[in-house]
Amino acid sequence: MGKILDAKQLMEDVANWQSPQDLLETLSGMEQNMALYESGIQEIRTKLEILQRDARFKEGHNPIESIKSRIKRPMSIIEKLYRKGFPISLKSMKDNLNDIAGIRVICPFIEDIYTVAEMLTKQDDLKVLETKDYIQNPKPNGYRSYHLVLEVPVFLSDRKEPVRVEVQLRTIAMDFWASLEHQIHYKTSKEVPDCVVDELKECAEIIAHTDERMQRLSKQIRCIGDTLDR
Ligand code: GTP
Ligand code: MG
Repeated sequence: MGKILDAKQLMEDVANWQSPQDLLETLSGMEQNMALYESGIQEIRTKLEILQRDARFKEGHNPIESIKSRIKRPMSIIEKLYRKGFPISLKSMKDNLNDIAGIRVICPFIEDIYTVAEMLTKQDDLKVLETKDYIQNPKPNGYRSYHLVLEVPVFLSDRKEPVRVEVQLRTIAMDFWASLEHQIHYKTSKEVPDCVVDELKECAEIIAHTDERMQRLSKQIRCIGDTLDR
């Protein structure tokens, strides 16, 4: 994580470190690779949409509110490799970066996050490379979400390519918080005042508490519904 360096400055720094020819080669090979990451996203998105449809029939409760996805821009890829001290090459990008393809799954309730994560990770064509539970173990700033790094096979005309996709699962409320926190930390170059950091953290705690209450309420409402239906 960190702030995107000024693009011109970045290219100058990188050119001092790696030959311009290597850099050009990396950039020109990126387009084809981006198509591969796009396909990886498509594969996972399809899986999520299938789960969404199936749950609607079985449980009557949809555990997925919405799905968003994004591909990291080539400049951000180079910036991240440079910042982390990794070589700037296509191989290095594939080996070292897990978040070139990213999917965000927004769920109504906390339990839905674990339900969706389990339904996804037990699919036998997916490899789970990493799991981070920032709900059980929130970041010091208050950030909460459940992260997975998955490897999905993408079938091309002449070969099968494993593609890494980072999946972030969070509630609507956690997403609301993370969007504002992201704006503050990533979009401004100035130091964030302590009072803002503290208030954000306090909001994260309130949100977590509210998420738990909403979860309990939803169970109660479902129980009432079941009793009335009988
Ligand atoms: P990166 O070098 O950023 O990839 O960190 P990491 O590999 O240790 O991954 P981590 O799972 O901690 O974070 C991955 C992604 O989660 C980030 O790129 C953000 O999209 C999101 N994220 C993590 N921490 C925060 C946070 O404190 N605030 C917000 N808004 N998003 C976060
Ligand atoms: Mg990351």
